[in-house]
Amino acid sequence: MTRHLQLTEQGRLKHFLTIEGLDRELLTEILDTAESFVGMSEHQVKKVPLLRGKTIVNLFFENSTRTRTTFELAATRLSADVLNMDIARSATSKGESLLDTIRNLEAMQVDMFVVRHALSGAAHFIAQQVAPHISVINAGDGQHAHPTQAMLDMFTIRQHKKQFEGLKVAIVGDILHSRVARSQILALNALGVAEVRVIAPKTLLPAQVKTMGVTPIHDMDEGLADVDVVIMLRLQKERMNSAFLPSESEFFRCFGLTEAKLQRAKPDAIVMHPGPINRGVEIASSVADGPQSVILQQVSNGVAVRMAIMSMTMRSGGTA
Ligand code: CP
Repeated sequence: MTRHLQLTEQGRLKHFLTIEGLDRELLTEILDTAESFVGMSEHQVKKVPLLRGKTIVNLFFENSTRTRTTFELAATRLSADVLNMDIARSATSKGESLLDTIRNLEAMQVDMFVVRHALSGAAHFIAQQVAPHISVINAGDGQHAHPTQAMLDMFTIRQHKKQFEGLKVAIVGDILHSRVARSQILALNALGVAEVRVIAPKTLLPAQVKTMGVTPIHDMDEGLADVDVVIMLRLQKERMNSAFLPSESEFFRCFGLTEAKLQRAKPDAIVMHPGPINRGVEIASSVADGPQSVILQQVSNGVAVRMAIMSMTMRSGGTA
C-alpha cells in the first residue's frame, strides 16, 4: 500500500515515506544521485537550480537538530524557497488539527512537506491527503520510520566499505523504540549485506524481532565479533512508558561501546550513531571522538542524501 503511495506508475519516487517496498535499484539510485551532490559544499557557489521556484515547508512537530537543519540546507542548495514552521508558535497550540494545518499551507501553493511527527503514520496520512503535485518526505514518524536517516547511513557505509555484499553490521541498543533501526534494517537487507545483528537486552528488542531479517544477540562480545560496522543507538527515554532497564550505568556496563569492546570488531570497523549521542550512556567519549568514528561524516552526508531525495521526488512530477 505504502509502496504504491510513494511511487509513480513508472516506479519513480513521488513521496519518501518508508524504505519498505523500495528495491535495491532505487536505493542505489538515491546513493548515486547523492554522490553527485557530495562535493558541492567545497564549491564557491554551493547551489544548483534544480528546485528553483519550488516551495518546501519543514513541518517539525518533534524536536530536531540534524534532520531539520540538513533538510533546510539541502533545499537551499537546490535553490528552493524554504518555510520553517515554528510549531510551538503556530495555530496547532490553539487546537488546529494536523489536516487543517496542511490544508492552509496547501492553499499557499507549496510543493513539498518535510514532516517529523511523534505519531507513527503521520507522514503517510499527509501524503494521502495532499494535492497531486505535492511531495511528502518522512523526517521521522514515531517509532515507525526515519528513511532519510537510513539512506545517509547507507551512503556513509558505502563511502567506507565500497560495497554492501559480505558486510556484517551490528546495531546496538534500544532497538524497540528506534525508527532509525527499523529503516536501517530494511535498507541493509535490501542492499544485500551478509548479516544484520541487533544487540540489546531482551527488554529493548521488539516482540517480532525474528521476522525482521536480523540476528538477535544479547551479549556485546558475541555480537561485535568480526563486524564491519557498529551502529550505536540512543536510549529513547521519551518513548519509554515503564522501566526497561535497571539503570543507565548498568546499561553502559553491559551494552555501552567502549574501546575495549570495540576490539572485538574488525580492526577497520566503523562506528556510527544517528545522534543525538549520550556520552557515557550508550557510547564512551573516547569511541565517539575516536579514529573509527564516522558520526560527523554521517551528518555531512545528510545534506547530499536529502538533496538527492528531494530532487528525485520533485523530478517524478504527476500523481502516484
Ligand atoms: N538523527 C536525527 O534524527 O537527529 P535529530 O533528532 O537531531 O534530527
